[in-house]
Amino acid sequence: MNNFFVFHGIDHKVGTTMISQSVAEYISNNYDDLKVLFMTLNGRESTEYIKDIPETIEGIKIHIDNKMLRIEDFKRACKITDSLYILAGITNELEKRYYYPDTVSYLLSAVASYFEVIIIDSGNEIDNGLAVGSLSSTDNKFLIITQNESTLKRWERMKPIYNKLEIYFNRFIVNKFDNKDPFSLNYIMQRFELLKPNMLKVERTDYDRQAEMDYKTLLEYRNEKYNHDIEELSNIILTKIGKPIKKKQRKNIWRSFI
Ligand SMILES: Nc1ncnc2c1ncn2[C@@H]1O[C@H](COP(=O)(O)OP(=O)(O)OP(=O)(O)O)[C@@H](O)[C@H]1O
Ligand SMILES: [Mg+2]
Repeated sequence: MNNFFVFHGIDHKVGTTMISQSVAEYISNNYDDLKVLFMTLNGRESTEYIKDIPETIEGIKIHIDNKMLRIEDFKRACKITDSLYILAGITNELEKRYYYPDTVSYLLSAVASYFEVIIIDSGNEIDNGLAVGSLSSTDNKFLIITQNESTLKRWERMKPIYNKLEIYFNRFIVNKFDNKDPFSLNYIMQRFELLKPNMLKVERTDYDRQAEMDYKTLLEYRNEKYNHDIEELSNIILTKIGKPIKKKQRKNIWRSFI
C-alpha cells in the first residue's frame, strides 16, 4: 500500500487536471498537518489552474536521470503554498519521449516519504513514459469520464489496451455530471459493468471559463455541489491513508431570537 493516487482521463478536456488539483487543494486546505504533493506526470505542463510556477519537472530531470535527487532540489522546483507542493509537468512537449516509466519510479522513491499524500495528474495518453510510469506505480487509480457518448465509446475502445498493460482503474469518476442527462449513473454503471461503490460523480458547475481566466480551480468559486463532490472524493483518499475524516461543521439553520 502506498500514498500515491493517480487521476487519469479517458480523453482530452474531461477535467483530469481540474479534479486532481481540486482534491489536492481540498486536502491541503482542510488538513494542514498533511503535506500534500500534486504532480503532473504526463506529456504536458498542465498549469492551467496555477499562477507563477517556479520550475517544472524539466529543472530536476538531470538529478532524476542521475539518480541524485535530494528533497531540497525537489522542493526548489515546486510551487509551495502552506502544506501544498505543486510540481508542474513538461513545458517542451517535444521532449516527452525522453521521460520513461523508470523516471517515475525513481522520482517517487526519492520523495514519497516526505509527503503524506501524493496526487498525480497522469493526463489522458498512454504513449508516454510518465503516464505509464505513474499508472503502474499504484493500485489507487481513478479514471475520469463524462456523460458524452464519444467519451463512453472511447473507454470501450481503449479498455483492452489498458488491460493489456495491466492497468485497471478501481474508481470511475463521472465529471461535469448533469442529473438531467439521459446517460445516468445507473446507465453508465450497467454499460461498463461496474459496481455502485466504484462510481462517483462530480457535478458540472458554472465558472469554468472564469476559473481558466483566473488560473484557479473551481473549488475557489464555492459551488456547494462541486465542493461536496470533491470532499467525498478526498475522503476516499484520506480513508486510504488512515487519516480520520473531519466532520463538517453544519451551519446553524435555526437561530433562537431569545
Ligand atoms: N465539474 C466541472 N464543471 C464545469 N466545468 C468543468 C468541470 N471540470 C472541469 N471543467 C472544465 O473543463 C475544462 C477542461 O478541464 P481540465 O483542464 O481539467 O481537463 P483535462 O482533462 O485536464 O484537459 P487536457 O486534455 O487539456 O489535459 C476546463 O475549462 C475546466 O474548467
Ligand atoms: Mg490536463
